This record gives sequence, C-alpha cells and structure tokens, in this order.
Amino acid sequence: MRLLIMGAPGAGKGTQAAMIKNKYNIPHISTGDMFRKAINDATPLGVIAKSYIDKGNYVPDSITIELVKERLSKSDCVNGFLLDGYPRTIDQAVALDDIMKELGIHLDGVIDIEVDDDYLIERITGRRTCPKCGASYHISAFKPKVDGICDVCGTSLIQREDDKEETLKTRLINYYEKTEPVLNYYRKQGLVKSINGVGSIEEIFARVVKELGE
Ligand code: AP5
Repeated sequence: MRLLIMGAPGAGKGTQAAMIKNKYNIPHISTGDMFRKAINDATPLGVIAKSYIDKGNYVPDSITIELVKERLSKSDCVNGFLLDGYPRTIDQAVALDDIMKELGIHLDGVIDIEVDDDYLIERITGRRTCPKCGASYHISAFKPKVDGICDVCGTSLIQREDDKEETLKTRLINYYEKTEPVLNYYRKQGLVKSINGVGSIEEIFARVVKELGE
C-alpha cells in the first residue's frame, strides 16, 4: 500500500501514521522527522533546515525533493510506504509523480485528517516530543506513563521549537496557501480519503482503518 497522510500542523498525522505503520507493516516516512534528525545530528542539511523550520517556513523544494527521492529508492519501500508531511507544495507533488513513474509505482490513496484551527492550537501547544526517538505525546490527550519521560527510550521530553503559538501562525498560513492546493491536486485524481480528525486517537484510527480496509 502506497499512501500519503495529509492535514494541517497538529492535525494528528504523526500520531495516526505510527498506528498505520504498525497495522499495515509499511515504513512511515516523515520529512519533518528526517529534518529533525538532521538538526539533532548537526549535519549540513540540519543547519539549513533549522533556519526555515524554527521560523515556521517550509524547507526549499529542491532540498526536500532530493531527500524524498533518495528515501523512496530504499529497499524497505518496495512493498509500500506512508509518506507524512510530503508533498507540501504543488512542485513537490509533481516531483513525486515523476519519482513514482521512474520506479513504476502509483499512489493508492491520500488520507486527509480534517481538524478545525482551534483544536490545532490546543494540540500543538500541548505536544511534548522525545528529542532522541521522535515519539510524540500530549499533556492531556496522550500522556507518557511517567510524567515528562519518553515511554519508548526513557529520554526527557521537550517542547518543539516550532510549537510556539507565534510560529504556529506562520505554519498555518503556509499550510493554507501552499499545501491545501496539493489536496485539490489529489482530489481531482479521486485519491483523497477525508477523515474527521476530531475525537479520541483510537476513534480516528478506526475511521482510517474503515477507509483503508482491514
Ligand atoms: P512536520 O513535523 O511534518 O510538522 P507538521 O506538518 O506541522 O505536523 P506536526 O508534526 O506539527 O503535527 P501532526 O499532524 O503530525 O500531529 P501529531 O500527530 O504530532 O514538519 C515540521 C516542519 O518541517 C514544517 O513546518 C516545515 O518547516 C518542515 N517540513 C516538513 N516537511 C516538509 C516538506 N515536505 N517541505 C518543506 N518543509 C517541510 O499531533 C499533534 C499533537 O496532538 C500531539 O501532542 C498528539 O499527541 C496530539 N493528538 C493527536 N491526535 C489527537 C486527538 N485525536 N485528540 C487530542 N490530541 C491529539
């Protein structure tokens, strides 16, 4: 199964993607996670990415497209993948079409998690993440077993630099201006599966599974 998961910042893409990955046994490829890893490792890519991400702006297409092209050519993607946070611009979507054409594959669907802005602000400002393994929690909706500590690797949780309310405004503007048109691009191809993203994490996952099939 070759899928995209889309939705505004904080819609719950990463949360649902982790569950989809486990159920359908496909790699979860998040460009946001890839950039955060590069930032943590202080690589040249990380230095460039940080200068955009901390301000709530998109990393340039040329950099992002190359990153995804390289990742999709890895052997674990042969039987499918779930791309999270890519494509975010029409140019990225067109590049993805070209990459898939080269690989002789096609998309099976685009999951769009729909959530109103008010919920997004609450979800983003309450999010806590693990700087080591990238696991994501929420101060009320999805608490770790031990307060402030990652369940997966035991590292102290942090608040992401770009999760401040001022930065979130820029992220939302970018989303509506640049990424909503990408959804229309896929709607015209009949690929979009719209999911109501309000409810408990489990309720939303049940809606996703209903759309994708058991
Ligand atoms: P990225 O990491 O992809 O950020 P995003 O799209 O803004 O999405 P988020 O990770 O903020 O949210 P999410 O939808 O995954 O929600 P989550 O599941 O965590 O990208 C970061 C940055 O990298 C971008 O801003 C950009 O600068 C750059 N970048 C990445 N890809 C790029 C690209 N292709 N091109 C250019 N630049 C790119 O949930 C949020 C919170 O809500 C969590 O705390 C969670 O526990 C909680 N939650 C989840 N579901 C529920 C629920 N049902 N009820 C209550 N709380 C919930």
